[in-house]
Amino acid sequence: MTVIVTGGAGFIGSNFIFYMLKKYPDYRIVCLDKLTYAGNLSTLEPVMNQPNFRFVRLDICDREGVYRLFEEEKPDIIVNFAAESHVDRSIENPDIFLKTNILGTGVLMDACRKYGIRRYHQVSTDEVYGDLPLDRPDLFFTEETPIHTSSPYSSSKAGADLLALAYHRTYGLPVTVSRCSNNYGPYHFPEKLIPLMIANALQDKPLPVYGEGLNVRDWLYVEDHCKALDLIIHSGREGEVYNIGGHNEMRNIDIVKLICKELGKPESLITHVADRKGHDMRYAIDPTKISNELGWTPETKFADGIKKTIRWYLDNRSWWETIINGEYRDYYERMYANR
Ligand code: NAD
Ligand code: TYD
Repeated sequence: MTVIVTGGAGFIGSNFIFYMLKKYPDYRIVCLDKLTYAGNLSTLEPVMNQPNFRFVRLDICDREGVYRLFEEEKPDIIVNFAAESHVDRSIENPDIFLKTNILGTGVLMDACRKYGIRRYHQVSTDEVYGDLPLDRPDLFFTEETPIHTSSPYSSSKAGADLLALAYHRTYGLPVTVSRCSNNYGPYHFPEKLIPLMIANALQDKPLPVYGEGLNVRDWLYVEDHCKALDLIIHSGREGEVYNIGGHNEMRNIDIVKLICKELGKPESLITHVADRKGHDMRYAIDPTKISNELGWTPETKFADGIKKTIRWYLDNRSWWETIINGEYRDYYERMYANR
């Protein structure tokens, strides 16, 4: 079995590659990644020389390049993680989100149609459902919840989801789509809430909480996401959407306070800054479908996962320090200097 993992030099994709190489030593795993600011080849260093692993630097929008790769590798399964993934960047500049997230997905699926495939899996997000009100804790996103997006990022992901489902209906492409809640864990790029707060706290820098910090996200340890994807690509039903999330709702402010506590840093580092435009209030997944159909349940509790994650950032300082000292620094200054 040959699996092409797009976006495998990013956060979730790299964790998925490690998971798959370990679980399926007889599979060939090909990582296709453009290496944008969010892609990091050093992350894949430990597997780079494994005979059943190949890294290819390629843009999913590059039709010729993608077709050539399909001709060479004759993949059985595609798992598409490649995306522009940060909401704040999509508010600054939506264009690249539309290109990569929508058009790039179209190119990959055209390649699947042309060369044949056993499964095309689209890795999506719960953000396509918009948000839930804070005063209705009884409400959750199911697969039937209408698409109702808030940011250019979530709109571009929703566009890709709809395109994937249309390729199933129109061309009979064996497609599945998963919509996962917020992930956390090793190799998470330090522009996102949890790694940014850990990295700033370790440097005794201000911890920029948007608005009051009352927004709620449903956090899932990245390995639990990988396990769900493994089940879906092997046993999920074609043409179906699966929500992934673990009933692990936390307010932003409580996460930041917890990180301060775990690192022995004062809460006085917390700085409330201007809110994000169009900021979603609450995300919460109902995972009944994947649980009933595929037997998936999350294994890592937030209290344990956050400890493991903090430990990883303590033990792998050079990984995130290199990022913080590179081109990412300009983004940070633009985003937070006058906020
Ligand atoms: P990430 O930003 O860490 O990684 C994205 C990867 O895609 C990078 O390696 C980047 O170089 C690559 N990439 C970007 N544009 C590309 C292009 N045009 N061609 C080839 N490669 C390209 O993102 P992540 O957090 O790992 O998210 C992966 C996927 O999971 C995304 O599709 C995202 O929408 C989805 N998702 C993420 C979360 C989360 O909490 N992080 C939750 C649900 C769904
Ligand atoms: P983020 O990690 O960007 O994920 P998403 O917006 O896709 O859920 O942000 C998680 C939450 O944390 C979101 O409500 C915005 C908030 N946030 C801050 O308060 N400060 C920050 O510096 C960042 C990056 C996010």
